[in-house]
Parts: sequence; structure tokens; C-alpha cells
Amino acid sequence: MKNKSLISISDYSRDDYMQIIELAEHFEKKPVQNILEGKVVATLFFEPSTRTRLSFESAVNKLGGRIIGFTDAASSSVKKGESLKDTILTVAQYSDLIVMRHPVEGSARYASEVSPVPVVNAGDGANQHPTQCLLDLYSIKKTQGKLDNLNICLVGDLKYGRTVHSLLQAMVNFKPTFHFISPKLLQMPNEYKMELEANGIKYYEHEELTASLKEADIVYVTRIQKERFSEPMDYEKVKNSYILKNKMLEGTKSNMRILHPLPRVNEINVDVDENEKAYYFPQALNGVYTRQAIITSILGIK
Ligand code: CP
Repeated sequence: MKNKSLISISDYSRDDYMQIIELAEHFEKKPVQNILEGKVVATLFFEPSTRTRLSFESAVNKLGGRIIGFTDAASSSVKKGESLKDTILTVAQYSDLIVMRHPVEGSARYASEVSPVPVVNAGDGANQHPTQCLLDLYSIKKTQGKLDNLNICLVGDLKYGRTVHSLLQAMVNFKPTFHFISPKLLQMPNEYKMELEANGIKYYEHEELTASLKEADIVYVTRIQKERFSEPMDYEKVKNSYILKNKMLEGTKSNMRILHPLPRVNEINVDVDENEKAYYFPQALNGVYTRQAIITSILGIK
């Protein structure tokens, strides 16, 4: 992992995932350490973010490093027409690591190819969100005590949701059974289903939400990604497809936990928040420890 960019979750192996999880456990026990003194991490966000950007920044601050960057490309020289390559080549002069979110799929890979410092993909369009995936793995391991042989429901926008694409690819290593719950328009793309088939992983597709909840260990809910639709009418057709309500959780397994990368719009009713099975806010906190693990691994400090 040292000095390597993290662009897709497939850039890391099962052993790498376990190493990050172990290190995140260490940071959860001791989140404040002065081990990034003198290091500068740049966060370049060409798309909005709350959790990813702020948890990266919190992770660096707690470890004694410094953060530079922008939260809106309109406040950078991109607004004057500067290319992504020139932006990356410039920011790399000022930083040891670049964390970038960009709406264009493949932009993070391109940035890593031109950058002299490692690049971490904080989400590229509907493609990948590998650091979210690692914090999801951490959250699953923490709540279930294991990653192997779990029954996982992925709910919502499985077409455009980059977090479910990364999670599916990582979980291939742990023999899960998947239930995909989505409207027809937003089904899991074929390339990911083919990857499951090639690895002998079972998956089932449903349009109805409650059918598979009772056997689930993890219910991973996603927002319908309005910003990725080219036809606004298509969004209108599916925007309220699923709303998970507290009463739907009756009879579910005691170990079951509800995850959501957030932000939520209306796909999980607020009455679920008080249920002990709701885990999405602790999941967001796990992002700090996991990102501490990612940064220190890439910088060769841990
Ligand atoms: N989970 C996630 O990527 O959230 P943000 O868009 O707020 O960063």
C-alpha cells in the first residue's frame, strides 16, 4: 500500500483489507497521535461531500498533519479553464497525498497516472468509492464479528450507487449471499453480476423491499442518485421506491444492522434511527479511523 494510489477497491487484496481493518481498530483505541507532523494532505472536491471530506480532514487533524484544498472547483483555477492534469501537477507540489472526488468516472485513475504523489479516490461518478468501502468493511466486521458467509441486502440505486459497486467487489473475497433490491431501472449492472458469477457467489434480485429482510445480516440502503440521471422524468418514477420503516424490522435477526453511506433523503424513515439495528451514524464515525489507517498506510507511517 505504501506510496500506492487507491483508486478502485480492486487495487487492494483481501490481505490489504484485513490490514486496514486491524489498523483502524488501533486508531479507534487511540485516535489522537502526533504521527503526521510535517505531512500535508490535499482534499480536492469537485462534487459536494460532508462525510468523506470532513472525516478525511478530521483523520489528518487528529494525527497532527495539515490539510489544504478546495470544496468547490468554482473557487479554484479550474473555473479559469485549468485542466485536471495541471491542477494535479500543481497541488502535488504542495502536498504528500491528494484525496479527490470528481463527477467523471475514470478521473481519479487519470489523476493517479499523472500525479507524482499518491491519489486517493473519494468517489468518481457512479464508478468507485474505495475508502467508503473500507469503512463499510470495518463496520461490518465490527458489528458481525466476521466478514465471511454473510447474507447482505443491497437496497436502492444499485445502478448509479458507487458505494455498492465497491462493496460488492470487496465482499467477493468473503463468500456472501447477496440480495439486490431495486427498481428495474436501477438494477445492479451486468458487469458486477458477471463478477459474482465468475466467483461462484450467489445473488438474488428483487423489486420488493421486505421479502429478504428477515434473513439479512446486513441491510445496506442507498439513496437514489438524482444527480446521475440524464432524464429527470426517470428520477420522478423511482424516487420514492423504498422507504424503510421501523415496523418493517419486526422479526429481523438480532445481529442484523442497517448501514447507509449517507446522505439520506427519505429512504430510511427517521423512526428507524432509535432502533438498535440502525448503524449509519456509527458507520460515519468509523470513517475517521479507517481513513487514518488508509492515510498512514499510504504514507508509510504505519
Ligand atoms: N458517504 C459519502 O460519500 O458521503 P458524502 O457524500 O457526504 O461524502
